[in-house]
Amino acid sequence: MVNIKLSDDKKAVVILDQSLLPNQVKYISQETPEEMYDAIFHLRVRGAPAIGIYAAYCMAVLAQKEASYKPISGCCGTGVADEVFIENMKRHGEYLKSSRPTAVNLAWAVDRVLMAARVEMQKVRMTGDIRANVGYSRLAEVMREEAIAIHNEDIEMCKAISEFGLSLVKDGDGILTHCNAGPLATSRYGTALGPILLGKERGFEFKVFADETRPLLQGARLTTYELHEAGVDVTLICDNMASMVMKNGWVQACFVGCDRVAANGDTANKIGTSGVAILAKHYGVPFYVLGPTSTIDMDCPTGEDIPIELRDPAEIKEKFYEQPMALEDVKCYNPAFDVTDHELITAIITEKGICRPPFTDSLKAVTEK
Ligand code: MRU
Repeated sequence: MVNIKLSDDKKAVVILDQSLLPNQVKYISQETPEEMYDAIFHLRVRGAPAIGIYAAYCMAVLAQKEASYKPISGCCGTGVADEVFIENMKRHGEYLKSSRPTAVNLAWAVDRVLMAARVEMQKVRMTGDIRANVGYSRLAEVMREEAIAIHNEDIEMCKAISEFGLSLVKDGDGILTHCNAGPLATSRYGTALGPILLGKERGFEFKVFADETRPLLQGARLTTYELHEAGVDVTLICDNMASMVMKNGWVQACFVGCDRVAANGDTANKIGTSGVAILAKHYGVPFYVLGPTSTIDMDCPTGEDIPIELRDPAEIKEKFYEQPMALEDVKCYNPAFDVTDHELITAIITEKGICRPPFTDSLKAVTEK
């Protein structure tokens, strides 16, 4: 199932609206920066790698739009026109980045497509004429090519992560997962669900326990949907049942995704993840974080430095209920993510290999590969 793509005329980004799943499979398209911001903010597109791929395509669409405008008169041939283009694109990028602060892939992807345009400008200037312009159309084309590259690379990365992850479990194992880190949140296979889906293709039968993941129910709505469609044995549990499932001895490994991994291994992921890690430690179940190296932020020394998104209290009190489940003026605290202490993590599985403690060394090594 394709979750993100460019429209045929390249004037819009088309996404499968994840906020409507599993009841409705509906594709929607966005052309303006405001529509794009809204799609990320309202989790119509979600999951760290998917947000990155989406943002890269958004930048490509906005660049194409920018290219259809005439450069300001007097700019052309002075090298200034390209700079104006880049400045405008940077502004769009900053706006998109401000939609959700925690997943580093969003900023990473925006910066990467901008960098591709800058490199193209540099190439032209290296020819000797520092006043030469690349031209808006070519810059937009370069940004689109970079967005497509990000998307294609993600497919490869997920496959590699899935292979490494699969090496950590055996046929028949029980696996607990939190939130959704499957194909919908990435490109193909997913990260945390990747080993399960790849294993299924190879005849492995896992027994998966999916936390429903309050308050936005990504586990119930998306993880069970993806696994059930793939024919995997999946059981939905409320978040507060994970402890009992582990105590019963039904889980041999926990697989979760990540939104940002700090240099010391502290990991931000969906709210509730750190609770699962604490339980796993108590019951002696290995706790694995799976994600691409683009989710590792070496500029964040520890989890303390990761910005945590706070969301609308209505998501706790009203959303998904027929009527409000708390008085209107009751205070609510609704962080979208929490940080799992690196000491609770058995290993971090990337497309370049399995990182084990001390993470300061293993993450450094894998990001420099
Ligand atoms: O708020 P969400 O649904 O975007 O949160 C998603 C998660 O926490 C995922 O586990 C994470 O982004 C990894 S997705 C491969």
